[in-house]
Amino acid sequence: MKITVVGAGNVGATCANCIAQKELANEVVLVDIKEGVSEGKALDMWETSPINYYDTRVTGTTGNYELTKDSEVVVITSGLPRKPGMSRDDLISTNAGIVKSVTEQVIKYSPDAIIIIVSNPLDVMTYCALLASKKCRNKVFGMAGVLDTARYRSFIAAELNVSPKDIQALLLGGHGDTMVPLPRYTTVGGIPVTELIKEDRLNEIIERTKFGGGELVKLMGTSAWYAPGAAAAQMVEAIVRDQKRIFPVCAYLDGEYGFKDIYLGVPVVLGKEGIERIIEIDLKEDERALLEDSAKSVKSVMEVLDNMKLF
Ligand code: LAC
Repeated sequence: MKITVVGAGNVGATCANCIAQKELANEVVLVDIKEGVSEGKALDMWETSPINYYDTRVTGTTGNYELTKDSEVVVITSGLPRKPGMSRDDLISTNAGIVKSVTEQVIKYSPDAIIIIVSNPLDVMTYCALLASKKCRNKVFGMAGVLDTARYRSFIAAELNVSPKDIQALLLGGHGDTMVPLPRYTTVGGIPVTELIKEDRLNEIIERTKFGGGELVKLMGTSAWYAPGAAAAQMVEAIVRDQKRIFPVCAYLDGEYGFKDIYLGVPVVLGKEGIERIIEIDLKEDERALLEDSAKSVKSVMEVLDNMKLF
């Protein structure tokens, strides 16, 4: 089995490294347009195989998509990352064209592949990949909720000084500052978080989560990669091992949660067919209002994509 990661920047390379270390495939192909970068990073990773003790073959190519032929899963991380002061939405004019052309090349050689988008602005780039691939919606989706809930869970674990393994959480909406973490569905070893952290403090943690990507851009001058790369690899794992994991995933909605023709983060079951089911939960009035808000902000970026007339 082959898995392709397009984009050998920080996120793509980290993702490929996680996939190799978890031995999720026989082969991982890393693709980039910058001459030598994917070959170099792939070689460097492969040289860790005797140390990290895996046998997944890691290779790299400068734009030769023929080498990605028959990939089962393709993770697309291509495009520019954010710089300080930028919102994810500012990236659309550059990244939409890149995501479209990458998706077309991917599909040419791997028409049956499941595609996971990581490029920003995430929800709209995933929509762009759906249009470019002409595939059904359960095979094209985006990575955001796994990352955003990981940030949220890590903050709660640090706050309570408990293992992050014991924090379960759910988050809805777009991968932007309007994302909607749901304290009602956050538990610590099965205990509702609201019983362990006071409302004011929990709200601070929720706010930090919403701006979690921005916090890192500010610190590093570019966007994050360890958690985004690991999050995408965890989705790949759920697919190739047919784990039926429940993750918040950026999914195309066709009536679910009352939305149509939009990508938004919702809980799904992830297995070998990709998104095997979208789980709908009843929302309280205030939660629904936040989700509507988030959808509105994703829609406004979708309009920008429409106006670009790429399709
Ligand atoms: C972040 C980028 C990957 O949230 O969107 O760090």
